[in-house]
Amino acid sequence: MADAERLICASDALREAGPGVRFEVTYFGEPAPAFVVRWQGRVHAYLNRCGHMPMELDWQPGVFFAAEGGDLVCSTHGALYAATDGRCLGGPCGSTPLVRLAVVEREGAVYFLGTEDDG
Ligand code: FES
Repeated sequence: MADAERLICASDALREAGPGVRFEVTYFGEPAPAFVVRWQGRVHAYLNRCGHMPMELDWQPGVFFAAEGGDLVCSTHGALYAATDGRCLGGPCGSTPLVRLAVVEREGAVYFLGTEDDG
């Protein structure tokens, strides 16, 4: 992992199935948008890049959850992803999942730990 651990946000900035917090990472040597959300009590983070086309998912900054449940949705063509692991659940993402990022929550804060392949 090329990135050192760094603070993303306070824990209480992430409500269950609520707005996510956007942040930036280095991915293959380039800055890339990312986000973290809370689902089923845990924090989950991904590159903010759809598996269908390299578009950001949120139609308004921080809005990642579909209106009717706990799935993440791409605002461009409606691809659905599981909040727990980023796998494609339906729509044009096919078999391409979101890129997962390592995060940890402790002592009231959420930290980015890095990616496995960020160069
Ligand atoms: S760009 Fe996300 S569904 Fe097409």
